[in-house]
Amino acid sequence: MPRPPLLGIDQLVYGGDYNPEQWPPEVWREDVRLMQLAHVNCMSVGIFSWAWIEPRPGVFEFGWLDEVLDVLHSGGIKVNLATATASPPAWLCKMHPETLPVRADGTRLRQGSRQHYAPFSPAFRYYAERLVRKIASRYSQHPALASWHINNEYACHVWESFDPATVQGFRHWLEQRHGSIEALNRNWGTAFWSQRYANFDEIGPPAQLPTAANPAQALDWRRFSNAVLLDLCRMEIAAIREHSERVPISTNFMGFFPWLDQFEWAKDLDYASWDSYPDPSLGQAASSGAAMAHDLSRSLKGKPFILMEQASNQVNWRDINAPKAPGEMRALSYQALAHGADGVCFFQWRASRAGAERFHSAMVPHTPAEESRVFGEVATLGQELSRLGPIVGSETRAQVALLFDWTSRWALLERGRPACIDPAEEATRWYRELHAHNVAVDFQPPDADLSRYKLAIAPALYLLREDAAQALAAFVRAGGHLVVTFFSGVVDEHEQVGLGGYPAKLRELLGAWVEEWHPLTPAGAQTLRWAGDDDPGAPVEHWSELLHTTTASTLAHFGSGALEGRPALTVNSVGQGRAYYVATRLGPAAQARMLDLLLGESGVRGVLSTPAGVEATLRHGAEQSFLFLINHTDTPRRVALEREGLELIGGERSGQAVELEGRGVRVIALDA
Ligand code: GAL
Repeated sequence: MPRPPLLGIDQLVYGGDYNPEQWPPEVWREDVRLMQLAHVNCMSVGIFSWAWIEPRPGVFEFGWLDEVLDVLHSGGIKVNLATATASPPAWLCKMHPETLPVRADGTRLRQGSRQHYAPFSPAFRYYAERLVRKIASRYSQHPALASWHINNEYACHVWESFDPATVQGFRHWLEQRHGSIEALNRNWGTAFWSQRYANFDEIGPPAQLPTAANPAQALDWRRFSNAVLLDLCRMEIAAIREHSERVPISTNFMGFFPWLDQFEWAKDLDYASWDSYPDPSLGQAASSGAAMAHDLSRSLKGKPFILMEQASNQVNWRDINAPKAPGEMRALSYQALAHGADGVCFFQWRASRAGAERFHSAMVPHTPAEESRVFGEVATLGQELSRLGPIVGSETRAQVALLFDWTSRWALLERGRPACIDPAEEATRWYRELHAHNVAVDFQPPDADLSRYKLAIAPALYLLREDAAQALAAFVRAGGHLVVTFFSGVVDEHEQVGLGGYPAKLRELLGAWVEEWHPLTPAGAQTLRWAGDDDPGAPVEHWSELLHTTTASTLAHFGSGALEGRPALTVNSVGQGRAYYVATRLGPAAQARMLDLLLGESGVRGVLSTPAGVEATLRHGAEQSFLFLINHTDTPRRVALEREGLELIGGERSGQAVELEGRGVRVIALDA
């Protein structure tokens, strides 16, 4: 059975953020004409409209929004209606200054930008909930309504607040989490530095401290701050559901943004969506980064997602805002589809004349739209996408999972480690190599059911709970290939170190244990030497470990430095599967060789072999498979196909090889 379209639209979703309150009504009509020219079918409306919907407390002015929705509807354009809570009005901040967030240093932020609310603030929540209810009750039956857009990029600017109400909330949350002050003292290890507490009222947030915070306290603060924001999102969802039972709901994420546990958040959403702003000046590295976040977004719900925002050309918030080259926006849009998106949208429809983002690109630029390159590309893409309806609902089948755990990342990003490690960066190194091989990748939390994967990679999975350790062992016993990399499994959920050889919970599975960590300064650069190989050694970086094997065999040793001759890469056979350990950060050559070995051993194949800079992905529909080929370089590339098919953009047979022009794209419905 084909999967129903996410937003009930039979086509790929195409549109952007629409901010009509910035323009007079005549422009709205012109907008619809241009939207039709661009084959737009859905607009996100009202994201920053609170002060226009509720100009004074309790006074709601919906007339203008009624008209906007009607104008869009009469133009055949659906609406992803926002809850408008992303930027509270000035009156709320004046009436309730306690709704403004407080930084760790005690500074209270002011109104005058956006996202200036303390997520825990009872007054903010009261007014936000009332607003959402009003909007939901007014528009739940509107024929243009296709989706609800909750808030906007939660936590983008403010992910924590140190105001008194929030701190009090933290204490209650701690009481619920730990049950008693004795349990908290145990879990936090407060014997250290005389931090013992007699009751919850004595506890503060981990801010303005002379030096490092208690790591368990800092981690609980991260968990709490994430929970407060999630609770806010749930409050909005519940308010919508009072009036609108079935229309799908999402909120737009920001790729691997650190402070929201998206696996947890996604459970409450009907579909995942995210905003992608790769830096065009980074070239192909940017496209691999975007691919990785697309794969995360698809993995969140295990189904297609929507690319909710991207820039048609340059952004305005980097020091230097490089424009996208001709064809680059198109190639990146297809890349989102290639990785599982069922829609491509932009920030924003019409470039603003005023305000902080007036120099940010849009689908309609300041200059005459129909004479502009950008609108031309937007309209051509819209026309192309309107022919790609058959891919809607098709799925990606990955055999490789990259394991990622936000809690572990929060813990690792605190101070006081042997060296700085960000698991997202470590995952990126593995991802880049997998992506270069055109291997489909899912992201999964470490306690997920991994039975459908052949290979799972856990990069720097520092914090490991017992249930996750057991899930990993079960995966290997049943025939999975698991890779665990350095500084994994070191602490439990309370940041307490597992004793008896790191990583204590995985010692048996890995058949190896770590005695010491040896972070590498650039001067102490190390190499790695493969067993039985004459190669003098491939460089490794940043980290090395004194590793002992018990039942594991050594695939490679350190080739130089303090650990010369000690194991660096090991493999242990357990049940039907294998557990690999990587006691260092591999340099590019060693990483490529290791990945070749892993793909060979686990029997994972990339979609196709393609020249550098060209990616190939597959999506599977009920009856057909779709091959995406995208050339991210600006020079032509040739790709030999294993199967021919019908190219959907141009409507022609593919032949056995495809000549891709610079930034060229093909979507081929493969012959059965
Ligand atoms: C996003 C945000 C949009 C707009 C855009 C500019 O983070 O959701 O409202 O600000 O960035 O790139």
